[in-house]
Amino acid sequence: ETTLRAAATQAGLFFGVAANPNRLSGIVNQEFGQLTPENAMKPDTLATSSGGLQNTGGADTLVNYAAQNNMLVKGHTMVWHSQAGALQGSNQNTLNNFIGNALLRWGNRVQYWDVVNEAFEDNNTGRRRTQWPHTISRDANGDGDVLDAGDTDVIRDSFRRAKQVVQQNNLTTKLCINDYDVEGLTVQGGARNNKAQALYETVRAYTQSSEKLIDCVGFQAHFNDNPNSIISNDLQANIQRFADLGVEVHISELDIDDDLSNNDIGQGQAENYRKVVRACLNVSMCKGITVWGIADSESWRASERGLLFTGGNGNYQKKAAYYAVLEEL
Ligand code: XIL
Repeated sequence: ETTLRAAATQAGLFFGVAANPNRLSGIVNQEFGQLTPENAMKPDTLATSSGGLQNTGGADTLVNYAAQNNMLVKGHTMVWHSQAGALQGSNQNTLNNFIGNALLRWGNRVQYWDVVNEAFEDNNTGRRRTQWPHTISRDANGDGDVLDAGDTDVIRDSFRRAKQVVQQNNLTTKLCINDYDVEGLTVQGGARNNKAQALYETVRAYTQSSEKLIDCVGFQAHFNDNPNSIISNDLQANIQRFADLGVEVHISELDIDDDLSNNDIGQGQAENYRKVVRACLNVSMCKGITVWGIADSESWRASERGLLFTGGNGNYQKKAAYYAVLEEL
């Protein structure tokens, strides 16, 4: 195949990109079969303080572009501590309003939504507890978790609301949870990755219950270029254990630092991209890979040169990593 989009389709998954409404050059629909709005569907753009919608123009542009070009869309994101805008500090009812409004505006033109983003602590102690929106959760019986009858849990309750809206309106939109540093079973040095474990236990709890609240899990995959890093053999094993819960797995925000010190004109980076693609291809429930931007210069981590193209402003050149991904697909 000649494009990432076509090769991925052939292989049975989507290959997508983080997209901006002012950067929809031809390469977007040629090379990519899916888009995630990089910023245009975050609460700091979309949400009013009562959970209504505002400033939908950028998101509409992206959703219309995707529909015209037969691309999938992942909405990103509803419940998140960052870029929360007018939702910051709000209660579950307001979050629920926003969840319903966002789902209903685009309906089935958005095939996936990140309902909850980055819900787990970096220090490996499980859920974020002291930071809104997680402070909305309540451990009613004081047993240290928020999984019992009577407990409230912003993760569960947000997915419950989303699922209710999907079901009541006969939508097919799939509901995802998304996080970073959850990609490997282990962390560098070989210790168990407790953050991945916390995500796994939550997904297990809410998919093995009769409610089946979660349809998909995104591993952000903002990786560094150390070959002994998280891009190791246990990426595939970790994808597999989530897949075994019956959820789709996505590599949802992929970029891989190019280590300038090794002076290998991008070969190490290309090999790392290859490993990530291979790990996903090897698990049938791994249904998509999304890179977090088109060109290095336009990336949120521009100095790390982590993407598949150089150039910018619609004029893009393919890197070694691009050819490695195309070949591997
Ligand atoms: C980033 C965007 O790329 C930037 O443009 C913005 O300034 C900040 O957010 N995890 C996520 C994404 O879920 O939404 C973030 O995107 C990157 C980290």
